[in-house]
Amino acid sequence: MPPEQDVTSTPAGTRPVHVLALGGDGIGPEVTAQALRVLRHVVAEDGLLVTVEEGLFGLAAWRAHGTLLSAAMQEAEARADAVLFGAVDSLGRKGIPEEERRRGGLLAMRRRLGLFANLRPVRTDSALEEASPYKARVLRGVDLVFVRELSGGVYFGEPRGVEPMPGGGRRGVNTHVYTEDQIVRAARFAFALARGRRGRLTSVDKANVMEAGALWRGIVTALHQDEFRDVALDHMLADTCALMLSRDPARFDVILTDNLFGDVLSDAAGALAGSLGMLPSASLSAPTVQGRRRALYEPVHGSAPDIAGQGVANPLAAILSVALLLRWTAGAEASARRVEAAVAAALGAGARTPDIALPGEATLGTAAMGDAVLRALERVPAETG
Ligand code: NAD
Ligand code: IPM
Ligand code: MN
Repeated sequence: MPPEQDVTSTPAGTRPVHVLALGGDGIGPEVTAQALRVLRHVVAEDGLLVTVEEGLFGLAAWRAHGTLLSAAMQEAEARADAVLFGAVDSLGRKGIPEEERRRGGLLAMRRRLGLFANLRPVRTDSALEEASPYKARVLRGVDLVFVRELSGGVYFGEPRGVEPMPGGGRRGVNTHVYTEDQIVRAARFAFALARGRRGRLTSVDKANVMEAGALWRGIVTALHQDEFRDVALDHMLADTCALMLSRDPARFDVILTDNLFGDVLSDAAGALAGSLGMLPSASLSAPTVQGRRRALYEPVHGSAPDIAGQGVANPLAAILSVALLLRWTAGAEASARRVEAAVAAALGAGARTPDIALPGEATLGTAAMGDAVLRALERVPAETG
């Protein structure tokens, strides 16, 4: 694989950025509505070239069109530079044929868009130290980012399925498989990202039990030697990483890991940020011929059926995903920082949804938290970013 010049760069460009917003299932539409208010506000105030189109995804699309993936939806997806996504309820699709579920699911969309680098930044806002189950001394200085490989591993490996066994009974099969190219492109992205941060990369695998993990470790080591000696690299087993995320999370800068470990470890890191409702994500493709990466921005959390429809979901993960969109797709770093600063200011002023409130503390609903961020934006002028 030839080295890319600057593997994490996103040319700002002058072509407008077109965003497709898909609320999806459960709390997805609730939090995406607030994220869109913030996006539209910042686009107007900061004079950005961003257009937004809204579409139906998931159960709403099934109810409206009898398909999870209409032709109109595929056209809208093809037009979009970025998808701003809410959540999918992948467990709540009973009655929809398996083939249709697969075609219209989030994994299929990730594959169509060619997304391979899933960035999941985790920071502890000092206003939320008390809301976190961890002690303040553990949380101090937490500022890490997962680079979760998104195109391979057990999520996509073949063969897969449930099959009868000759002697009776059934077995479920999934295959964990990684090619060298998949490992190299994710690792190269993670090294380059670390170079622009604190210069440390932790690569996480299970090289002790998995051949694909040993291959992963060997390839990351070789790439380090060949292209990234200035970055401090260490390797960690995934189970140890789970422990270290709770014992000494501030030691991490960039964590590179595979699709499944990245899914699990990033949810575990949600508690460091106070709640899963605080974690945004960006998923990126390789640069296209036009030089822009295709991208999907979404909260790390899911559709939260236990609180859906109540208007109490925390929209900050969705709003912080807008900041990632502004940074990675629109190339509008100052606007991205403005959104992040407004979220911090709202939290600093005491705005809390139930998931990040202390017992007895007054709480806001989803839309009122959106209001609090918009009010805070008034106090964070564009030029101080
Ligand atoms: P979940 O992330 O939806 O919820 C886990 C817990 O966190 C719940 O108690 C929920 O109430 C809480 N929570 C999540 N987001 C919150 C928010 N913004 N504000 C306040 N509390 C929040 O995980 P789950 O319940 O295990 O899964 C539900 C469904 O979501 C499943 O069908 C799963 O497949 C799907 N899922 C989708 C995505 C995605 O769309 N990217 C991610 C994870 C899970
Ligand atoms: C996530 C989710 C998804 C995943 C599901 C909904 C397919 O848990 O984005 O973290 O496992 O990747
Ligand atoms: Mn997950």
